[in-house]
Amino acid sequence: MEKQEKEQLTPESKLELKTPKKKKEIDILDLPGVGAATAEKLKNFGFTTLMSIAVASPGQLMEVSGLTESAARKTIHFARNAMDMGFESGSDLLERRSKVHKINVGSESFNELMGGGFESGVITECFGEYGSGKTQIAHLLAVNVQKQIPGAEAVYIDTENTFRPERIIQLAEGAGMNPEKALKNVKVARAYNSDHQLLLAEKVEDMLKEDGGKIKVVIIDSLTSHFRAEFIGRGTLAERQQKLNKHMHTLLKIADVYNVLVYVTNQVMSKPDTFFGDPTQAIGGHVVAHSSAFRIYLRKGKKGSRVAKLVDSPNLPDGECNFMVETGGLRDL
Ligand SMILES: Nc1ncnc2c1ncn2[C@@H]1O[C@H](COP(=O)(O)OP(=O)(O)OP(=O)(O)O)[C@@H](O)[C@H]1O
Ligand SMILES: [Mg+2]
Repeated sequence: MEKQEKEQLTPESKLELKTPKKKKEIDILDLPGVGAATAEKLKNFGFTTLMSIAVASPGQLMEVSGLTESAARKTIHFARNAMDMGFESGSDLLERRSKVHKINVGSESFNELMGGGFESGVITECFGEYGSGKTQIAHLLAVNVQKQIPGAEAVYIDTENTFRPERIIQLAEGAGMNPEKALKNVKVARAYNSDHQLLLAEKVEDMLKEDGGKIKVVIIDSLTSHFRAEFIGRGTLAERQQKLNKHMHTLLKIADVYNVLVYVTNQVMSKPDTFFGDPTQAIGGHVVAHSSAFRIYLRKGKKGSRVAKLVDSPNLPDGECNFMVETGGLRDL
């Protein structure tokens, strides 16, 4: 540690600090001492981004790349400088928050519950039993984002084969939009297993890099069904959570870096040992709960209505609202 700090103060590295390298666009190949062969080795071991290098230890890099210790330190140091890993002031953050958009879901009470709509830049998780309306809201967000932001596109990763173009058409008509256009701006991919799902999320990250800011909503419906089906039994829990964690990191990055609204749906399981309150619990545990800025618990209410409860929010009071799911959209009760 001490050694590292001393090294950071050498005149040479100070020079590096001052060199106005372009931020963000730097690739692993631009790191000092990293040629094509070393970059290849690094990439093979998962060091594919500047961030992964910036947070690595010199030992890790030496082991996989054959770099000397001082070269490894220099590489890490350079990656850190290139990355803007510093702190932001509260006012910078407030300015960033002003770029947040909120997607209206057509029900006043639901919008109000969400502080004006579904927020960009973070993950919102919606969990609830079958038929509670999670997929309906997913379709609705894919349509409404287009109404609100002209030219906006939605990406829909469908794991349960429940995406319905007909439903997009109905909702677009309900919102007074051109249904064909609405349908064109929803990009759908079917995920066949959890590996495929992770891969698709990474692919979305590539799409975001290239699309010039058109994609405003990314939907994963459902986030957990494949994980739940593939990892059965207690012995596999740790492995499942690790993989889910990796997935959530990709989604967090997508939301944060590209100011995208990420909406994920999640099933519930019954908690037989509950004596008070609701005996249901979201799948995915802390890994999913902690990555989501907003968590909505959806359930069926009286006379075919739906009840949405905000469970966990960084800046909003917990609360509930009541609405109907109708052909053209949501309606307040
Ligand atoms: N065209 C429609 N018009 C009105 N209501 C509809 C329409 N399509 C679906 N619904 C309502 O939405 C419900 C289905 O909700 P949804 O598919 O969103 O559930 P879910 O929470 O995703 O469930 P699951 O866990 O099984 O995926 C239907 O039972 C119906 O009440
Ligand atoms: Mg569903």
